[in-house]
Amino acid sequence: MSQIAVVTGAASGIGEEACRDLLDKGWTVHGLDVTEEGLGRITEEFSSENFHPFVCDVRSAETVKSIMSDIGGRTGKINALIASAGVIRLAPLAEMAVEDFDMVFDVNVRGLWLSAREAIPFLRTAAGAGELARIVMLSSVSALRPKIDGGAYGASKIAVSQLTRVLGAECAKDGILINAIAPGTVDTPMVQNADRSGNWRPSGPSPVGRVAEPKDIVRVVRFLLSEDAAYVTGTTIPVDGGTSAAFIPPK
Ligand SMILES: NC(=O)c1ccc[n+]([C@@H]2O[C@H](COP(=O)([O-])OP(=O)(O)OC[C@H]3O[C@@H](n4cnc5c(N)ncnc54)[C@H](O)[C@@H]3O)[C@@H](O)[C@H]2O)c1
Repeated sequence: MSQIAVVTGAASGIGEEACRDLLDKGWTVHGLDVTEEGLGRITEEFSSENFHPFVCDVRSAETVKSIMSDIGGRTGKINALIASAGVIRLAPLAEMAVEDFDMVFDVNVRGLWLSAREAIPFLRTAAGAGELARIVMLSSVSALRPKIDGGAYGASKIAVSQLTRVLGAECAKDGILINAIAPGTVDTPMVQNADRSGNWRPSGPSPVGRVAEPKDIVRVVRFLLSEDAAYVTGTTIPVDGGTSAAFIPPK
């Protein structure tokens, strides 16, 4: 049987690119996203019998449980979870709407935790059979260096990194390795459509001299799913072209 992946936030940006890469490598990929239209678009584009779309709002404990059980029940195992579903809402913390704050934490933190929680029994089965069992969480450079107007988002991403540390340590005995990636600005719809009416701006080109493409992030996902990462768990890897390394003041 081929390797089985579940990707949340599959219909756009980094999640979409992760699906494409895994399909290219012969994996069977289950793509979860809240947007049916987006899932329809990528299903058509991938045109692969190995891609299985699921409409899923990761904020719903019942839906996440039922979809993971459905996938795990049919395949008997999950070899990798890529938790990429995420949202950004921007406002000064003192003025932010409660609904926006809740949305950021419900999707980025609670939804990511629920996805891992429901996938872990099937990752354990894979590990028990001597197969690959990995989780890759999408944190952010904002976990390391937050921005004004992005306080809730930055707090949600440091929470992702903290969950990754503890889950990584808790699940190491089961043979499941769990890590997070902290991208700097990546050219995806999240950044393209972000609200620029306030003080928030994307970090822009990194010290490396450009903005990242989803591929730059997915290459590190590939590493974390490889045998080369067999002794890596509970960590957050910045993939930001040096953005968080040092501040370069404007000229
Ligand atoms: N783009 C960046 O610059 C950047 C930087 C650092 C971290 N990240 C993180 O990487 C991840 C992917 O971001 P992206 O840039 O690809 O964003 P994106 O907006 O292109 O894709 C995110 C996907 O998540 C889905 N989603 C949103 N809410 C959902 C929900 N409740 N249930 C299921 N799916 C839901 C969206 O429909 C979308 O398809 C996010 O967690 C984001 O915070 C992005």
